[in-house]
Amino acid sequence: MCGIVGYVGHDRSLEVLLGGLKRLEYRGYDSAGVAVIDAAGELNVAKRAGKLGVLEDELQRHPISDGATGIGHTRWATHGGPTDRNAHPHLGDDGRLAVIHNGIIENFASLRDELTAEGIEFASETDTEVAAVLLGREYRRTGDLVEAFRAVAARLEGAFTLLAVHRERPGVVVGARRNSPLVIGLGDGENFLGSDVAAFVEHTRRAVAIGQDQIVVITPDEVTVTDFDGNGVDVEPFEVAWDASAADKGGWPSFMAKEIAEEPDAVANTLRGRIRDDAAVIPELEDLDALLVGIDRITIIACGTAAYAGQVGSYAIEKWARIPVEVELSHEFRYRDPVITPSTLVISISQSGETMDTLMAVKFAREAGAKTLSICNTQGATIPRESDGAVYTHAGPEVAVASTKAFVAQITALYLFGLHLARLRGTLSVAEQAAAIAELTAIPGKLERVLESTDSVAQLAHWMSDTRAVLFLGRHVGYPIALEGALKLKELAYIHAEGFAAGELKHGPIALIEPGQPVFVVVPSPRGSDEMHKKVVSNIQEIRARGARVLAIAEEGDASVLPFADEVVRIPLAAPLFEPLLAVIPLQIFAMELATAKGLDVDQPRNLAKSVTVE
Ligand code: G6P
Repeated sequence: MCGIVGYVGHDRSLEVLLGGLKRLEYRGYDSAGVAVIDAAGELNVAKRAGKLGVLEDELQRHPISDGATGIGHTRWATHGGPTDRNAHPHLGDDGRLAVIHNGIIENFASLRDELTAEGIEFASETDTEVAAVLLGREYRRTGDLVEAFRAVAARLEGAFTLLAVHRERPGVVVGARRNSPLVIGLGDGENFLGSDVAAFVEHTRRAVAIGQDQIVVITPDEVTVTDFDGNGVDVEPFEVAWDASAADKGGWPSFMAKEIAEEPDAVANTLRGRIRDDAAVIPELEDLDALLVGIDRITIIACGTAAYAGQVGSYAIEKWARIPVEVELSHEFRYRDPVITPSTLVISISQSGETMDTLMAVKFAREAGAKTLSICNTQGATIPRESDGAVYTHAGPEVAVASTKAFVAQITALYLFGLHLARLRGTLSVAEQAAAIAELTAIPGKLERVLESTDSVAQLAHWMSDTRAVLFLGRHVGYPIALEGALKLKELAYIHAEGFAAGELKHGPIALIEPGQPVFVVVPSPRGSDEMHKKVVSNIQEIRARGARVLAIAEEGDASVLPFADEVVRIPLAAPLFEPLLAVIPLQIFAMELATAKGLDVDQPRNLAKSVTVE
């Protein structure tokens, strides 16, 4: 939540900052603001409530003088509503210092009380302004921005990435981070800071991730990183694996449409280099193999869509590697005093690698003695850095707030992991491993086929644009797909939607069925468990008998649902465990199309942010 950009270099700060904010807008879009030090040494600030476009219009109407040093912010409101006043940057040192912030300063109320008692008047309701005032004071006391940051960091609790510029220090941007992300972009005669590499990837692909509790100073020609105690830190630059065009819409009507179309590639790229002789061999795990052999239990932690991917993956890992796997929401896991032993493996799943709930749960698990593995889509992100090992999904940058291609890539990574572990534990025969690998490698081609035949789902969504509630049913691996289908519809179309385990229907949810109630049913393959398939078909009849409008997602050739379904969406044949990778696509498209039919912004749904860096 909240995107931040910093720049020093040439006389074009506004262009760089606004371009960076455009790419970071997925992190929050309640307000946007910039502060630039111009050639005359003036600090110019512009900020507006609303999306970045509102600020851009304001800058057109009332231009500010550009310069070579600046910071920019796009906000997801936490403390104080989304107003002009609460928009960042906030000022300190009598307007000479501008500060932007991502995170939450948990002790801000006591700090604010203390400063108010001293006669300070605040211009906003934000926690950030407290940091700005404190930084201004420390700067006046020490005459040094880094010293000031160090002193202030020692007083702040919670999560923060703070960037500041001071009009007495043109050509310098200083930043500090604790529990919120910050990455440096290394340019030529110019340097950048951003919440993630998207902020500057159109200018440079050389980047450095800043570690926990560190302070960075960028000037046009130098980058210096120290820890909060003032010790120098060696930095290790990395090359961003994608270029700016990967994060452009590329002619699609929305990022979401583009990202759904990229799902075959997301799976194929996540598989690449991880299959050897019809078995899964994940090179990044080689150093961890000895450790993996010793584990006796797995807990998967994640939030949102990533948690549903975890749920799908848990069925496969447990089946293949014969090890107990439980899945828990990160924020619930951390606060329930779970049993963790040195032979527990905690797998976190996070597209962004920055979700605060998941990050805190990973730290908690490590401190409690667990081994930790991160499944992540973002290079340089915090969660993989805080884990014992990482398996990256190679879905490419995901910009739309609601996750799509990352979901199938996460399931793919979990399946690879399950097969990797099964090989280490000797729980699958060579032939069984080869059969699973054959299924997995066939998925990208089958996804292409699903994507070629989505017109009927799109049409259905447009017909149903005034629907007030939709239910989703599934069993086994179809259950998390039902949950994900419902989540997508809530997120994008603001329609009440619930996913249920089909077997749970008779224990309550069936009371919701009334004539005309639309219900999506994910029908398991009849070639898996015949019994399970029959049970779902019976569930369909039960809801149909009560007037439900049944929308079945069933594999090609499954005629058993035809007499009872109002609509049947077909997906290609796949072994039952692999069906979720295909069945989720029509549900993603349904939600996207329905939101579009309602005239909603599918890339930036209301109240949400892609990277939730507050707890
Ligand atoms: C937010 C997003 C979801 C996402 C979840 C977890 O809630 O809106 O789309 O699934 O965070 O994000 P992560 O980056 O940890 O996968």
